[in-house]
Amino acid sequence: MCKLIMHRFIVLYSVVYILGQNVRVAECNENGKSLLKIVGGVEVPIEKFPYQVSIRIYGQHVCGGSLIDHHHVLTAGHCVMKQENELHSIGVTMGHTTIKGQHILHRVNKVVIHPGFDPDAKYVTNDIAIVRLKAKVPANTRTVKIIGLSSKRPEEGRMCTVSGWGAIKQPDPTSTRTEISNTLRAIAIPISDYYQCSRVTNRSLGVFCAGYINGGKDSCQGDSGGPLVCNDTQYGVVSWGDGCALPLHPGVYTDVSYFADWIRNHSFALPTHQASSAVIIPVLLVHLFRIV
Ligand SMILES: *[C@@H]1O[C@H](CO)[C@@H](O)[C@H](O)[C@H]1NC(C)=O
Ligand SMILES: *[C@@H]1O[C@H](CO)[C@@H](O)[C@H](O)[C@H]1NC(C)=O
Ligand SMILES: *[C@@H]1O[C@H](CO)[C@@H](O)[C@H](O)[C@H]1NC(C)=O
Repeated sequence: MCKLIMHRFIVLYSVVYILGQNVRVAECNENGKSLLKIVGGVEVPIEKFPYQVSIRIYGQHVCGGSLIDHHHVLTAGHCVMKQENELHSIGVTMGHTTIKGQHILHRVNKVVIHPGFDPDAKYVTNDIAIVRLKAKVPANTRTVKIIGLSSKRPEEGRMCTVSGWGAIKQPDPTSTRTEISNTLRAIAIPISDYYQCSRVTNRSLGVFCAGYINGGKDSCQGDSGGPLVCNDTQYGVVSWGDGCALPLHPGVYTDVSYFADWIRNHSFALPTHQASSAVIIPVLLVHLFRIV
């Protein structure tokens, strides 16, 4: 699918032209892997996904991301590949269901891409990055909230949700433009079995797969970097796939738990598994003592 639209002008990342007013996002790396990857989802309000952010390059939506603490956004490495040294070009918007509109652009003062990330690898791994926001975000509103990170891989078969403004259908091979959705969309998909996933990923570490065996529902171009969330905890980052929503080609996600140390080293986020009882027990104890 992807290979059909590959030619020498299509590079991995955004081609910025006409004074940075237009960002074209190309779909493939050299191996025909579709990197900027919801097909089959439904429109949802930001209030249901308040941790979802949009990564902008020269104002244009290129990828999703998630707010992991008051200063940091988690996204995919391939989303911000050219931005480590071009911090003026990148910004983050949050708290809005739509992409278009007068949104506050949060400026960025640091981009850290995982040192093991290689966009041209046959099986892309370590596709993870942290974007540091210049100003602290007041993340306790109805539309902007922090998401907790999992310290465990998701169980096979578990239903999780992916959200984003990405392409809502497999991109037309003859077109070089990806049409993104103006309204946030989300979809529930199951975590793939690890055997089936290993056929797609060649047993790479730090990734897992999700999607329906029969295809039809998936994340797609423009969703990259966005969160895969199970029960209000983020487990994955949208990374890549061969096309979108194709049968037997589940989407590949960066496993957040595998990178817990790295994330901790570059942010203030502390991966936890679900609401840990450590938080709940002291609260209960306080109440008990009050009652006593
Ligand atoms: C898959 O991984 C194995 C071992 O990890 C490696 O030997 C093999 O070359 C890889 N296959 C491809 C097609 O890259
Ligand atoms: C995190 O930081 C510690 C201390 O600097 C370092 O020893 C460790 O290797 C780092 N881990 C990762 C995964 O970056
Ligand atoms: C989901 O989270 C809630 C509280 O955060 C917890 O009580 C429940 O057991 C979790 N469900 C699963 C399937 O993990």
